[in-house]
Amino acid sequence: MKKLEYKVDVFTGIRPSGGLHIANVIGSVNTIVTLQKKEEIGRPMVFVADLHALTDAEPKDTQKNVIEVVKDYIALGLDPKSCDIFIQSELIEEISGLNLYLSRLITVSELLRVPTLKEKIKKNMEVSNASVLLAMYPIMMASDILLQKSKFVPVGQDQQAHIEIARYLARKFNKAYGETIPVPNILTLGEPERIKSLSGDGKMSKTNPSGAILLDDPIEISLSKIKKAQTAFAGEMTDSLDSLLKIGKFVANEDEKEKIEEIVKRHMNGGNVMGEFKQVLSVAMQRYLKDFQEKKSKLSDSEIFKIVQDGGKIAKENAKETIKEVRKSMQFEYIS
Ligand code: AMP
Ligand code: TRP
Repeated sequence: MKKLEYKVDVFTGIRPSGGLHIANVIGSVNTIVTLQKKEEIGRPMVFVADLHALTDAEPKDTQKNVIEVVKDYIALGLDPKSCDIFIQSELIEEISGLNLYLSRLITVSELLRVPTLKEKIKKNMEVSNASVLLAMYPIMMASDILLQKSKFVPVGQDQQAHIEIARYLARKFNKAYGETIPVPNILTLGEPERIKSLSGDGKMSKTNPSGAILLDDPIEISLSKIKKAQTAFAGEMTDSLDSLLKIGKFVANEDEKEKIEEIVKRHMNGGNVMGEFKQVLSVAMQRYLKDFQEKKSKLSDSEIFKIVQDGGKIAKENAKETIKEVRKSMQFEYIS
């Protein structure tokens, strides 16, 4: 069997949902930022999945959100010098092409069995009002990944079934037309930390802003949410306090981390120390948010356009080469 070469070491996509909160950073953004520093894993390529956003009921302000999310990621530590960043819709021709070629290798019922779609259909829609694009979501993800000949795709648990489909489609393609596309691997990131809402109701989420630390909010608003946040009675550990501690340790410097550990010990021994903990948390959070907002405000739209243009060139070149090979394998070689 021919040995197929990978082109991109680490490849992942982010949805341009806009308005990140601290739980998004801890549960998701931070893993990509950390991966970029691990040289043994290789150079990452990150893209903003604006075409996938079209599967949302009503995508709004897509372009603004795309620019915002790139700024967020860079302000949170993604370094455009150490990775390539591009916008998915710049590759619309190549993605559409590969989507079509891959679509004949998977059945409608296989797509309807994908857990994410099944869940959506169970929760708030029916097959009769699910768009074809929504059903094609995993095929489009496979196209993103396979066009770049990606080696590792780091994703959370919720996306793993989609990567399995990309692997399945690569194998099926190679079986049908000869070895062409290297099969990508899932880079498991483990269970993401689940951070609770500060107001105690469910997980921290944009849909419940009173319990969420939104990175772009005026800092005083976030600090007042911390003041009101649920904790635990002396001597007890609750999910709320556990989440608050995770947030605290994430934004704290080394000294503050030690202090938090020491406060927790006193708390578990029955001490009344939650006020003290919130004080440390507020100081650390204030510094974290200030630093983020300052970094973000220094990034201009034109700088972002330049970054994604550079990344886009590399991604486009890779995608064009893959499409060419795919067409050759399928014996569609009318254009050279
Ligand atoms: P969402 O904005 O809900 O689409 O979430 C984007 C990503 O952020 C998800 O893939 C999760 O990994 C992460 N995330 C969202 N909410 C939380 C939370 N409350 N705790 C931890 N991670 C979260
Ligand atoms: N569907 C992913 C999410 O919701 C984003 C995404 C799109 C992606 N294409 C991808 C992730 C390819 C990894 C690889 O988070």
